[in-house]
Amino acid sequence: MKQKQTVREILKQDREILDLEVCGWVRTRRDSKGFSFVEINDGSCLQNLQLVIDHTRLDKNQLKKITLGSSIKAVGDLVLSIGSKQKWELQCKKVYLLGEADPEKYPLQKKRHSDEFLRKIAHLRVRTNKYSAINRIRSKAAFFIHKFFQERDFHYIHTPIITSSDCEGAGELFQLIKRGEKETKFFSKNAYLTVSGQLAAEALCMGLGRVYTFGPTFRAEDSNTPRHAAEFWMVEPEMAFFDLNDNIDLAEEFIKFVTKNVLETCREDIELFRRFVDKELIGRLEKVVKDPFVRIEYSEAIEILKSAHKKENFEFEPIWGDDIHTEHEKYLCEKQFKGPVVVYNYPRTLKPFYMRVNDDNNTVAAMDILLPKVGEVVGGSQREERLNVLIENMQKKNMDIEEYEWYIDLRRYGSVVHSGFGLGFDRFVMFLCAVSNIRDAIPFPRTPGTLSY
Ligand code: 4AD
Ligand code: MG
Repeated sequence: MKQKQTVREILKQDREILDLEVCGWVRTRRDSKGFSFVEINDGSCLQNLQLVIDHTRLDKNQLKKITLGSSIKAVGDLVLSIGSKQKWELQCKKVYLLGEADPEKYPLQKKRHSDEFLRKIAHLRVRTNKYSAINRIRSKAAFFIHKFFQERDFHYIHTPIITSSDCEGAGELFQLIKRGEKETKFFSKNAYLTVSGQLAAEALCMGLGRVYTFGPTFRAEDSNTPRHAAEFWMVEPEMAFFDLNDNIDLAEEFIKFVTKNVLETCREDIELFRRFVDKELIGRLEKVVKDPFVRIEYSEAIEILKSAHKKENFEFEPIWGDDIHTEHEKYLCEKQFKGPVVVYNYPRTLKPFYMRVNDDNNTVAAMDILLPKVGEVVGGSQREERLNVLIENMQKKNMDIEEYEWYIDLRRYGSVVHSGFGLGFDRFVMFLCAVSNIRDAIPFPRTPGTLSY
């Protein structure tokens, strides 16, 4: 009986097999003395499978249409290849053209295309080695994220996409209105796409103990940078009885776990990025897995940046109370510490209402994790569990307390020390693949001014 197999399954065989069936898209074709050597790829792995097609077995007209990008099905025997490039090849008995791709019009050629060009054909770019590799790594990273939490008694929860609150308080919200309606009649109040699942995760954590949500989040930031998207995926764990230190420990273990497993499982794909994008990629990932992350207080980070300012001449002068900008993050991770850096205890005024106020009354128990090349990948904190301090924070930020009564309830009934963080999944994928623009880490990116597909 014929067996339908993926190219990846076929290539890991250790014996010759008769009558295999395989489908894929043509990547290369070379003709010689009555034979065609056609490499197909089916997305299951980076490697192609070589098909050997005897011209007598196929109608001339069909044969002509086996061109780059066309799709075919082949049935044949898997034999050891005489060519030195590959171990196996499929000696075809039957070949069926499934879908042609006019060589005059098909936008992908055998040469290397620029990232900018490929962004304009995002619906086709997944047929290149680079973009199929990114998407396979995305998939495996997501899998290991679930594995990490599931093995540690975390429950996977689903937090709402439509919300009425602005968790981060930055006002960068997309508003949701029913088509044709001018006002916000549908929900009888303003509705937005969520910027973070945290507040709902906190509620569920207060009964489930350890939870995580992993889903799309939205920010109407007008920043047109290589690491901001309007729609991105975030992993947000929330843990009861965890203080800031426990939170940082968990985040570090988490990043190490996913990086290590992706390195092991996606070696071939990672190797592609090492060869063609960044020679230091694998060393950088291994270092993240092996070395403890540097941990410094925000005040210390500002001191370091202040002394570097003379030499580096940053665009933004480092000042206590101001944000740590991208250029500062780069300096800390790439020059000063040459590895991941955890910055904690930020000024109270910089951070949202839910973060726990430290004893100095001036800083909050916040933490960011910065990675080389991408900068901030994680933002998290210990949450304010004291009812009176929480309300005071909300008043300071002029929040509508009534809207948050449910959230305040969590501090009225059985409140406990708890913490959590959010990891920007797309930025993490950038880090794993040494991709320098978030538009290439997301299959169909949404950024200011672009909404194709
Ligand atoms: O630091 P942020 O804003 O933290 C929160 O939203 C918390 N409520 C998370 C929590 O504690 N549960 O965002 C978390 C991470 C950032 O560190 C960054 O990696 C990513 O989300 N991120 C973005 N990624 C892509 N495009 C954007 N516009 C992003 N904004 C944040
Ligand atoms: Mg942040």
